[in-house]
Amino acid sequence: MAEALRIDGKAVAAELRGRIAAAAARWRHGHAVAPALAVVLVGEDPASQVYVRNKAAATREAGLISIEHRLPATADEAEILALVRRLNEDPQVDGILVQLPLPPQVRAAAVTDAIDPAKDVDGFHVVNTGRLWTTGDGLVPCTPQGCMILLRRALDGLAGRHAVVVGRSQIVGKPMAALLLAADCTVTIAHSRTRELPALCRTADILVAAVGRPEMVRGDWIRPGATVIDVGVNRVTGADGKSRLVGDVAYGEAAAVAGAITPVPGGVGPMTIACLLRNTMLAAARRRGLAAPDV
Ligand code: GUN
Repeated sequence: MAEALRIDGKAVAAELRGRIAAAAARWRHGHAVAPALAVVLVGEDPASQVYVRNKAAATREAGLISIEHRLPATADEAEILALVRRLNEDPQVDGILVQLPLPPQVRAAAVTDAIDPAKDVDGFHVVNTGRLWTTGDGLVPCTPQGCMILLRRALDGLAGRHAVVVGRSQIVGKPMAALLLAADCTVTIAHSRTRELPALCRTADILVAAVGRPEMVRGDWIRPGATVIDVGVNRVTGADGKSRLVGDVAYGEAAAVAGAITPVPGGVGPMTIACLLRNTMLAAARRRGLAAPDV
């Protein structure tokens, strides 16, 4: 069988960011002030610092306003909640993102549920979670939204396909399952307690791996011709002592069997930030009662 189609998330994300930048330019022309995204980083987790820096750079590059708030790792929940309330009330702020994970003294759910659902560009608020599983008209979490865009490009229709989502996190697994269900897939959510996981994965037309275990999904877990979406981003040290990024899927083995597959890096990752900018534009429009920009 021929090598799988490599789904180029980097290129699709660049295209989406270009459309967002054009919409932001039209917005500035009509409203004088660009939509603004506020990002809150608590503590000094190195990976979170990189993510926040990348989010801020991409926001500015698209012509939106980036506002950064940094709090020390010792910040208590009340301090973070007070900041979130200030951002909720600030009319200049259209989107609010509190980078996760938060330090152990802080309850993440208390913080995400304090964000105004209309400004919740992560889509983690319980109201947006509820809308995702019901009407579908809330703000949708960015990583699963990016996966859906890639799937729609890779496949000619999703209805009736069997999608297996490996992982049940609030950030990826659960919202991913909701979106696949809304797209009329038959959805199975698998997790660390699932029995016969390789055999189950072999029944998938669409396999989404979001477990955070380097190269856990092997080539013989994949049905020939299946579409594989790898959400994992794991830093590993190779035999040569050099560190590199790998996904949750063993790419080489999987690409020999799959019909299409996302690489790591350059697959799902770039889509997450593009969808964050998209959500910021949508939130800005909805809050003002305007038609959603076409992005
Ligand atoms: N940490 C890892 N991924 C995410 C994300 O999508 N949003 C936030 N806020 N934190 C994260």
